Amino acid sequence: MSLLVVDSEKCKRDGICVAECPLRILEMKDASLPPSPVDGAEQMCIRCGHCVAVCPHGAMSLATMKSDECAPVQKDLLPRLEQVEHLMRSRRSIRTYQDKAIGREKLEKLLDIARYAPTGTNSQQVKWVVVNSREGVRNMTGMVVDLIRHMISEKHPLAESYRLPGFVKAWEAGIDLISRGAPGLVIAHAPKDYMMAQTDSTIALTFLDLAAPSFGLGTCWAGFFMIAASQWPPLQQALALPEGNACFGAMMIGYPKYKYHRIPQRNAAMVEWL
Ligand SMILES: Cc1cc2nc3c(=O)[nH]c(=O)nc-3n(C[C@H](O)[C@H](O)[C@H](O)COP(=O)(O)O)c2cc1C
Repeated sequence: MSLLVVDSEKCKRDGICVAECPLRILEMKDASLPPSPVDGAEQMCIRCGHCVAVCPHGAMSLATMKSDECAPVQKDLLPRLEQVEHLMRSRRSIRTYQDKAIGREKLEKLLDIARYAPTGTNSQQVKWVVVNSREGVRNMTGMVVDLIRHMISEKHPLAESYRLPGFVKAWEAGIDLISRGAPGLVIAHAPKDYMMAQTDSTIALTFLDLAAPSFGLGTCWAGFFMIAASQWPPLQQALALPEGNACFGAMMIGYPKYKYHRIPQRNAAMVEWL
């Protein structure tokens, strides 16, 4: 099957797909003919599906993406500006969780939303590891604490500036200031040699963070966990990521114990207009 399938009866020759293709690999050789791929299009196409998505007539399909199998955009489901603004301002980093397990289906749905995050050249290389039990999170957090103990013993410069001994002391007193007793951890990983691994993983986790409140869930970036996952062999062994992949971001997740009633203030946007 060729790269593109154009339904010449539905195609109105409006040239929208040609104008919108990010790689400019479509052309209309003649205004009376449907668009066709340029030479080498098969190799250049990033399968982003923009040509399929932008055609108002449902005339365009990729071999791997049929028009009628792509869900229609439902304008009435799109949030208004005030709703988007309120969602983004009112989401909070959640550090106090209910003692309640997260159903796997809910996490699956959340990750199913996060996979629509943009990725460099649509390469979609972010993968996930989910630790979905309080005990599992606790075990891995214990490994993070071991790294912190190691950093303290090595007199690592961060040990003092981040007041790391306090984290160990709290842990030993049964208080988890690392993963905050969360019942879940979501870890994004990608190939180490992929240039956009960090960016794609961060965006995917940000999608997850923004979608979580709609499921009644809250998240918090797991900074200490991320540091440990990038360098502490026992944690890396426990994560068992595929060869060549590394952790590029992690978040705690769970049902928030408390509700937030106000939006804390933030610095004004610092912008220079050129
Ligand atoms: C990269 C990154 C790492 C973070 N690591 C932690 C962490 O390890 N523990 C924690 O409690 N919060 C962590 N946070 C959350 C920030 O402290 C939080 O975003 C900030 O205080 C603003 O609060 P808000 O997210 O509720 O607006 C992290 C945030 C980011 C972006």
